Amino acid sequence: MGTWQMLKMEKESLLAAYSRPDILFTHGHGVYLYDSDGKKYLDFTAGIAVNALGHCDPGAVQVLQEQSQKLWHCSNLFYTEPPIRLAGRLTEATFADKIFFANSGAEAVEGAIKLARKWGHEIKGEECHEIIAMQNSFHGRTMGALSLTGQNKFWQGYDPMLPGIRFAEFNNLDSVSRLVNKDKTCAIIVEPIQGEGGVHVASTPFLQGLRRLCDANDCLLILDEIQCGMGRSGRFCCYEWYDIEPDIMVLAKPLAGGLPLSALLVTQDVADHIKPGQHGSTFGGGPLTTAVADYVVGRITDPAFLQHVAAMGDHLLKSLQLLQDELPAIKEVRGQGLIVGVELNIPAKKVIEVCTDFGLLLCPAGDHVLRFLPPLIVDKKQIEEAVEILEDAIRECLVPTGEN
Ligand SMILES: Cc1ncc(COP(=O)(O)O)c(C=O)c1O
Repeated sequence: MGTWQMLKMEKESLLAAYSRPDILFTHGHGVYLYDSDGKKYLDFTAGIAVNALGHCDPGAVQVLQEQSQKLWHCSNLFYTEPPIRLAGRLTEATFADKIFFANSGAEAVEGAIKLARKWGHEIKGEECHEIIAMQNSFHGRTMGALSLTGQNKFWQGYDPMLPGIRFAEFNNLDSVSRLVNKDKTCAIIVEPIQGEGGVHVASTPFLQGLRRLCDANDCLLILDEIQCGMGRSGRFCCYEWYDIEPDIMVLAKPLAGGLPLSALLVTQDVADHIKPGQHGSTFGGGPLTTAVADYVVGRITDPAFLQHVAAMGDHLLKSLQLLQDELPAIKEVRGQGLIVGVELNIPAKKVIEVCTDFGLLLCPAGDHVLRFLPPLIVDKKQIEEAVEILEDAIRECLVPTGEN
C-alpha cells in the first residue's frame, strides 16, 4: 500500500485526536527519522522527550531482543527479575525509598494523587484532600491528571474536574502560600520545568520555598519530572539543581527509551500508607519494558553521559541566543539542558511546518513557542545543522506572501 493510501485509511479509521503532517515514518536511527520516500529528518522532538538514546539504540535493541525471548508478561501476581533490578537502580539514583511502576505519565500522576490523598487522610483526617497545582501546568489527559493541568483549553467539554484542586501562579511563592490550608492541603504538585506550558524553568527560590512550605504545613511535595527528568536537564533528576528533594516524583517518557513505562517514586513515609490491594496495574512494571528501562537508566546515570547532555544543552542555548541577536522574530530563548524553548513573535505552527519541509522536526509548546527536545545523544554538528535550518525556516516565514 502506498503512502497516500495509508494516510487516507488513517483518516477513515483512526479517531481524529491528533493533527499531524502528511508524512509516514518508516524507520529511525540515532537522531534521524526516515519517511516512506526515504527523506531524512533531524528529529528534535525525540517522540516528545521519549527517545533519550535516539532511535533503535543498539544496546537497547539487544536487551529488548534477549528479554523478548525469555518472558514478556506474567502480571503483578508474580515476581519477575527486571522490575526488581530497575527499582533498585532508581532508588540508588534518586531520593526514593520505594517505586511503583505504571504505563504512562498520566497513570503515574493518578497514582501520585491517590497516594497523596491516602497519606493525607491517614495523617491529618478525611478533610485533607486538597492538592495545589500550578497555572499553565501539564500533567496528562486522564481525569485526575487533567484536573491538575492548569490550562483551560485541555478541560473543554470534560467538566466536572476532580474536586479539591486549587491553582497557584508558577514561580510565585506568595500565590501558593495563600492557598495552603494546614488541615486540608495534602500536596503541592509542580513541574521543575513546565514543558507543554511553554518551557518555563522554576526559579530556585520558588522550588526551595515550596519545599519549606510543605514542611511547615505538613504536606507532600510532588515533582512531575515526566518531561524534564531523567537526564534531560543535565542532571539525572531536575530537582538536583535546586538542592531539594520531593516526597513523591513521577517519571515516564524516556524511562524505557520508547516503550510505555512510568514510575511513581516515593519516600518510605509515603510508602507506608499503601497495603496490598490498594493500588495496582495489569501491565505496569512488566519484564519487557523494565528490562529495557534498566539499560536506559544505566546509560543515563553515567556521569559522562550527563556531562554530554549539559554541554550540548549549553551549546544549543547559546547557538539559539546568537540567532536571536540576528532575528527579531525570536522574542526569547529559555531552558535548561536539552529542553529549550524559543518564543517567537510569529506563529510557531508555520515555522514548524517549514522546518519539517527543510528536514528538521520540532514540537510546539503553545501558539508561539518552539520546543527543542532532541535525543540526549545529539552532537554539536547536529545542533548546528538544526539551528541553521531554523534560521532558514524563520527567514522563509518572514518573506511576504506572494514572493515565496
Ligand atoms: C510534565 C508531564 N506530565 C505528564 C504528562 C503525561 O504523560 P503521558 O502522555 O505519558 O500520559 C506529560 C506529557 O506530555 C508531561 O509532559
